[in-house]
Amino acid sequence: MTGFPDLSKPFTQARLGPLTLRNRVIKAATFEGMTGDNIVHPELIEFHRRMAAGGVGMTTMAYIGVSADGRGTPNELVPDAENESSLRLLADAVHEQGAALSGQIGHAGAVAASAGLRGLSPSRFFNPLALRKTKAMQAEDFPRILNAFSETAKRLVGSGFDAIEIHLGHGYLLSEFLSPAINKREDEWGGNLENRARFPRQVVAAVREAVGAEVAVLAKLNMTDGVPGGLWVDESVEVAQMLEKDGHLDAIELTGGSSLQNPMYLFRGEAPIAEMAQAFPRVVRLGFRLVAKRFLREYPFEETYFLSYARQFRQALSMPLVLLGGITGYETIMRAMAEGFEFAAMGRALLREPNLVNEMAEGRTRSSLCVQCNKCMATIYQGTHCVLDSPAIS
Ligand SMILES: Cc1cc2nc3c(=O)[nH]c(=O)nc-3n(C[C@H](O)[C@H](O)[C@H](O)COP(=O)(O)O)c2cc1C
Repeated sequence: MTGFPDLSKPFTQARLGPLTLRNRVIKAATFEGMTGDNIVHPELIEFHRRMAAGGVGMTTMAYIGVSADGRGTPNELVPDAENESSLRLLADAVHEQGAALSGQIGHAGAVAASAGLRGLSPSRFFNPLALRKTKAMQAEDFPRILNAFSETAKRLVGSGFDAIEIHLGHGYLLSEFLSPAINKREDEWGGNLENRARFPRQVVAAVREAVGAEVAVLAKLNMTDGVPGGLWVDESVEVAQMLEKDGHLDAIELTGGSSLQNPMYLFRGEAPIAEMAQAFPRVVRLGFRLVAKRFLREYPFEETYFLSYARQFRQALSMPLVLLGGITGYETIMRAMAEGFEFAAMGRALLREPNLVNEMAEGRTRSSLCVQCNKCMATIYQGTHCVLDSPAIS
């Protein structure tokens, strides 16, 4: 394949850095909740085998913590030597179905409060999830976390992963560095944008160095945090330009919102308050119900809801970009391609119908059966699934 990619045919082969994917559809990271006790459960392998069998070009295992204090929920995997053989089985199962496998790696920062921790952040602030102040990053945390990113990426690649996606969004640690509202440091890691972007850029460089040129490296970047005073498009475009210039990434996936302060901004649609409350231990349930309406503020769902922001990035960058958010089927994939995005990522639509890509490649134009009820969000504690995806319905 030479020259510019032909985006008019999303269901044909596509280059993603060193990889050749069978099409331009990527299964977006949807934390699977199938790694309790730090074990890769067989259900996780089946989850991604099913996604791969459904036709995606690449499926993304999520969310993988780089260190114990970087877990966003207690059942997240922090890969160690004991996981290597089961991760290899996962990679083999995906490859057998003709798809590539990516692993989303990150440090949850203050969001680690959901795992019962105090949460780490660039500078100290009152953590609404922990109901106490976060721990500010100390000098020794920088090399420790940088190394944890490299080691985790290396371990995944050693277990057969084809790509690594670095989480720079959703209010997780690296996104907190970018946020002018959260990062109040007065040293070389805070202040102007160059300083706030320093640690995320170092992590991206370290991951690339760790995995080499044969592996695709992507970043999931917030275009806006969706909170007053947070990162917004003007600065985020500049961060993306810095990342493009650094030259370590094969693509940037564009997202927005904050798991810490404004989670529904990520998803749009209904806030599954009752289901989320049910998923929490009894003691937290009442408190959650009291704050839930404000914490899970609703935004109406629209197809390709991030497109108007993402266009600013398309215009400012020449590197491959992945459009995400409200891609529901053939028409929205074609819209993404027509706007110049090289890849389209789908989360909920594929949870609802894992076979959607095969069906679209064979001519299906009707969009997904997902109704954006977002009740899948509450299933991440026991095994992520679409609550409508039962044999009686699908
Ligand atoms: C159940 C569920 C779990 C998710 N887990 C993650 C995650 O671990 N990491 C992440 O970056 N995004 C996560 N997301 C967000 C998705 O990757 C995606 O950004 C969002 O669902 C919007 O895409 P969609 O409209 O195609 O669903 C999750 C979404 C859902 C529904």
